[in-house]
Amino acid sequence: MSHDTPGPTATAATSQQGDALENLLHENRKFAPSADFAANAVVGAEVYAEADADRPAFWAKQARELLTWNKDFTQALDWSNPPFAKWFVGGQVNAAYNALDRHVENGLGDRVAIYFEGEPGDSRAYTYAELTEEVKKAANAFESLGVAKGDRVAVYLPMIPEAVITLLACARIGAVHSVVFGGFSSDALRSRIEDAQAKLVVTADGTYRRGKPSALKSAVDQALATDGHSVQNVVVVKRNGQDVDWHEGRDHWWADTVEAASAEHTAVGHDSEHPLFILYTSGTTGKPKGILHTTGGFLTQTAYTHKAVFDLHPETDVYWCTADVGWVTGHSYVAYAPLINGATQVMYEGTPDSPHQGRWWEIVQKYKVSILYTAPTAIRTFMKWGRDIPDKYDLSSIRVLGSVGEPINPEAWMWYRDVIGGNKAPIVDTWWQTETGAQMIAPLPGVTETKPGSAQVPLPGIAVDVVDENGASVPNGHGGFLVIREPWPAMLRGIWGDPERFKETYWSRFETMYFAGDGAKKDEDGDIWLLGRVDDVMNISGHRLSTTEIESALVSHPAVAEAAVVGAADETTGQAVVAFVILRGDAVDSGDEIVQDLRNHVGKEIGPIAKPKIVLVVPELPKTRSGKIMRRLLKDVAEGRAVGDATTLADNTVMAQIAASLKK
Ligand code: WT7
Repeated sequence: MSHDTPGPTATAATSQQGDALENLLHENRKFAPSADFAANAVVGAEVYAEADADRPAFWAKQARELLTWNKDFTQALDWSNPPFAKWFVGGQVNAAYNALDRHVENGLGDRVAIYFEGEPGDSRAYTYAELTEEVKKAANAFESLGVAKGDRVAVYLPMIPEAVITLLACARIGAVHSVVFGGFSSDALRSRIEDAQAKLVVTADGTYRRGKPSALKSAVDQALATDGHSVQNVVVVKRNGQDVDWHEGRDHWWADTVEAASAEHTAVGHDSEHPLFILYTSGTTGKPKGILHTTGGFLTQTAYTHKAVFDLHPETDVYWCTADVGWVTGHSYVAYAPLINGATQVMYEGTPDSPHQGRWWEIVQKYKVSILYTAPTAIRTFMKWGRDIPDKYDLSSIRVLGSVGEPINPEAWMWYRDVIGGNKAPIVDTWWQTETGAQMIAPLPGVTETKPGSAQVPLPGIAVDVVDENGASVPNGHGGFLVIREPWPAMLRGIWGDPERFKETYWSRFETMYFAGDGAKKDEDGDIWLLGRVDDVMNISGHRLSTTEIESALVSHPAVAEAAVVGAADETTGQAVVAFVILRGDAVDSGDEIVQDLRNHVGKEIGPIAKPKIVLVVPELPKTRSGKIMRRLLKDVAEGRAVGDATTLADNTVMAQIAASLKK
């Protein structure tokens, strides 16, 4: 069985561990929305009851309110052939028309759609009218290169406006985009191009990373070096001006094709279930899965959640999601939802420390960003750098803060609220996945009393639950598996080319329920806490502990900046807790003393059972480009094995640095 099928071997906390769990993730701090915020909020508490009364009808209402349909749908949901759902059956809609043209038609052409900030300091703004024109040109250009409705287009671009233009141009003509994150290797790119049988690749000469030019096109050349691939044309954006190899006939500069194309293009409606994109996501092992999303449901749920969860007021807000377009967050909450909702957004090409560690806060100050959406790993990095950096900037424009991608430990949550949010901006911790397409669990900022570390409540119209091994809902105060009981509009429609794997991966562990692969707990209030992937849940002497939880305890120690915990095989206890920690800049590595101190601290925070057997002080942690810690590699170190495949690391020297520091 492949390891990315979390099904039959997965286990999660059961009632026996209830007692142990009682002490965990206990949180008494709560932050109610201010009266002012609640009074001006886009949605109020009534949405929950409305959605509960008739889920499909609730979503049908959102679909009609948020989107302009070329042809109205006749049925909200067809679930006659589970797990294959159809939403807004019979409807026709065009994503690009909804994101662009209609705003221009409604007199909003002069509103800024994108403020782009390049890493070297160049900036450009696109109004809705300008962006519409660019997308029409790109649509014409792609069509002239033989791309037709249903064809796949691979996208290998940095975080530049052309990425959004490319995605919307594909959507406009009904071509299916498949973005491959620019940090992936040429091998990864080739296998994804092959799986999707892409006809066109859109790339750039390169981008900038920490002030230095970094190449992209060379990886495309490598991916296409041997024959037998499906690609006919490559469109190349000139971004950093570096030299590139050129394949006459196959390669075309963006400036010569897109910029030269006509800006007249009529958008036609596509079937609500027409494929919008494929996005590959890796399991623990095995071939990456091509997650397939379709049009009507995806647009509806991303737009609704973007409006409700971020309390979007498009006339006045400036929204900034820091995710790269190579990940699902950059699809749903950069390329689609903000534009569907007519928002003004910031897009930044580079790293947070280029040319200095205050770059993000400088951007917030410059554009008066009011809604910021980022990942806990970034927040913890800023904590490590110290609050005096953000404190130098005017962040008073911020009124909503979002978090996504991994559990946010209460310390980071409090720091985010205090230092970035000025102790007033509500934090919305949003749980979802590439597969769910849109946010599923999150507070509503004008309604929910937020709680540090918990994603809290299923969104209106979303049927999330925590269940035991047998699929029975667990009572408050207990842990189990996170499942989704009812179909939702933005749900994945399958794995590209592999319907069996789709059923097996997500729908086989529990009958009629979607199994997300995450462990979770309901606290005394019924709020949901995410405990990490069930494959990251450890079993120590028959007690289950979450890696997240111990990490959270470690990070709450004043000397610790970041921590990663793995369960390493142990003869006596089954698994033993091994912790890798990065100390804060001002903390002294006192050797044994700090190790003892940290073990005792965890013992105190969670219980003696959770005390790490080994604490290793390291200079860095292995992370993917999206900021996920690759615990698998740390597990290899902890278990004394040769380190496995590390090709997706953001910095491929990290494992060597860790090895060197452990030798010392
Ligand atoms: C996995 C999905 C959602 C876009 C980025 C990641 C974890 C995601 C949270 C959160 C705790 C979270 C889960 C999930 N995750 N958001 N707010 N709290 N865990 O998408 O790469 O498909 O990863 O990320 O484990 O299953 P992804």
